[in-house]
Amino acid sequence: MGIVAQGPDMTGSPTIRPADPDAIEAATAVLREGGLVAFPTETVYGLGADATNERAVAAIFLAKDRPRFNPLIAHYATADGPGRDVVLDGRARRLAAAFWPGPLTLVLPRRADTRLAELASAGLASAAVRVPAHPVARALIAAAGVPLAAPSANRSGEPSPTLAEHVAASLGERVGLILDGGACAVGLESTVVDLTGPFPAILRHGAVTAEDVAALVGPLVHAEDDAGRPKSPGRLARHYAPRTRLRLDARDVAAGEALLAFGPDGLPGAAVTMNLSPAADLTEAAANLFAMLRALDASGCAGIAVMPIPGHGIGRAINERLRRAAEG
Ligand code: TXA
Ligand code: MG
Repeated sequence: MGIVAQGPDMTGSPTIRPADPDAIEAATAVLREGGLVAFPTETVYGLGADATNERAVAAIFLAKDRPRFNPLIAHYATADGPGRDVVLDGRARRLAAAFWPGPLTLVLPRRADTRLAELASAGLASAAVRVPAHPVARALIAAAGVPLAAPSANRSGEPSPTLAEHVAASLGERVGLILDGGACAVGLESTVVDLTGPFPAILRHGAVTAEDVAALVGPLVHAEDDAGRPKSPGRLARHYAPRTRLRLDARDVAAGEALLAFGPDGLPGAAVTMNLSPAADLTEAAANLFAMLRALDASGCAGIAVMPIPGHGIGRAINERLRRAAEG
């Protein structure tokens, strides 16, 4: 293909390419040179760089305007990859066997001979690792031959991208190449489990639920109760914030508000309504959440009323994102 594969084009917008083998090969060349590539995973789009290259990892922080202290996840093509760079204990192996490839990230001690850049861990003695399930992500990582450090491919403070177009709108010319793999099936970032302490802690809720984790590795501690544990900086308030004010657990719609509905019965009075799942399916709601927040944010409404979302299963992760988006 004769398309320019790296670097911004003449108009300053990034190149979005369908994630075919040619585009994956072009992306691999960008990564080898220490450049950035946005790629789809089953959770959200990631902004990837060679996780073993300090300068490449530094470029991620610059592109996202991300505070230096927020560490990144290293992504591997196969479940036997992470053991090269972090120490997996029995608990980690049980979780890996059950959920990799998939939307689960494990925080584990870095090996003394780890290849992972210091900056990927933001100076911590631990590193976050995951094996994504998306075939494009796995093909890209395998072709690159190194783990890829990849945060969500949005500027800090914005909702995570679940479409290639979201990445382009958020990062613009800061990313040269975006691999388009369509809409992300899960739609929420991976569950993050910290295994560096005696008891596992959920640092971020996701599609793999706390119950799923506890069933395999026993009782969990609440990260916020554990003073000895560095809090996951991803827990910062307003991490997932749209610009428009959110009102949660809404039972009515105020003048000028848009409605983010859930279930078969909407609410009257909204100028614009989007329904996370008319069938009240939490998995469907998770997949729609960030795209609908972005769309309502762009609608020019005075506020967004959000109907109550059940807190079980992945509903807990949805409510965690909504609470954070509503703070501040
Ligand atoms: O689904 C996902 O996880 C997506 C896709 C692209 O894989 N990635 C993602 O990355 O959401 P990011 O950087 O937006 O979130 C990574 C989370 C943050 O909350 C970060 O603080 C936490 O993982 N984290 C990473 N390394 C850590 C460490 N060593 N200790 C504690 N928390 C860590
Ligand atoms: Mg993020």
